[in-house]
Amino acid sequence: MFKITVKNGENISHVSANKGDNLYRLLAKHELIDNAPCGGKGTCGKCRVKITHNCPDVDDVEDKFFTDTEIDTGIRLACRINIEHDLSVEVISAFKHFGGIKILSEKAPTSDINFALDIGTTTLDGILIDAVTGTRLIRMTRMNPQKKYGADVFTRLNFSLESDEKRNTLKEIIVSDINLMLTSMLKRLDCDLDSVKKIAVSANTTMIHMLLGREVSKLAFAPFVTDFLAPPDMPAKEIGIICEKATLMISAA
Ligand code: FES
Repeated sequence: MFKITVKNGENISHVSANKGDNLYRLLAKHELIDNAPCGGKGTCGKCRVKITHNCPDVDDVEDKFFTDTEIDTGIRLACRINIEHDLSVEVISAFKHFGGIKILSEKAPTSDINFALDIGTTTLDGILIDAVTGTRLIRMTRMNPQKKYGADVFTRLNFSLESDEKRNTLKEIIVSDINLMLTSMLKRLDCDLDSVKKIAVSANTTMIHMLLGREVSKLAFAPFVTDFLAPPDMPAKEIGIICEKATLMISAA
């Protein structure tokens, strides 16, 4: 039997674990961690904890989610840890701390780069890919900045419906964050904005409307049917993205 000390905000709890117990399931059973969307499959990255005593080595799945600094400071995915020792664990609010840059390849990129971006209601997850070699170069995740105008889709839809100005605010803050992601990652690769040729965005219908500043009343009220799903390809600069040469391709997820 092992002793697991869990710090969650100001609260300290002690729970017992058997050898091989999964840390995420243990914390969830004791209601010490929020339910994560993937339910412990290691795909959502939301079960972040900081291991402050007996921190295990990072595995391949965790390595994809975290920066080197995060790994060095003991940040891990609870669902990837099967308990083999006493542990001290700090539960991190994944939704508060989600974010970071991760270099995925040391290969020097060509001057032909594509950007793949998933816009979720909660998070933005983007990867730059070398269009010539297919190499995944660098990944950056951030909270969706629209969260401050509503944690869920309906609150955000209602905010958007209040005025044209508010609808534009939702568009401007997401475009601004996309530009920040692009400039941050390209700077790390020592590449310029003109090297980005294609930007492929995947998002749900509401997020697409908000990215483009489209009117959302059909999405906000029953029967929730829209006559617009995604636009044809367009120059990215048309919506304010700062890559002059990039084509924006949007698909509904
Ligand atoms: S629960 Fe989703 S990654 Fe751990």
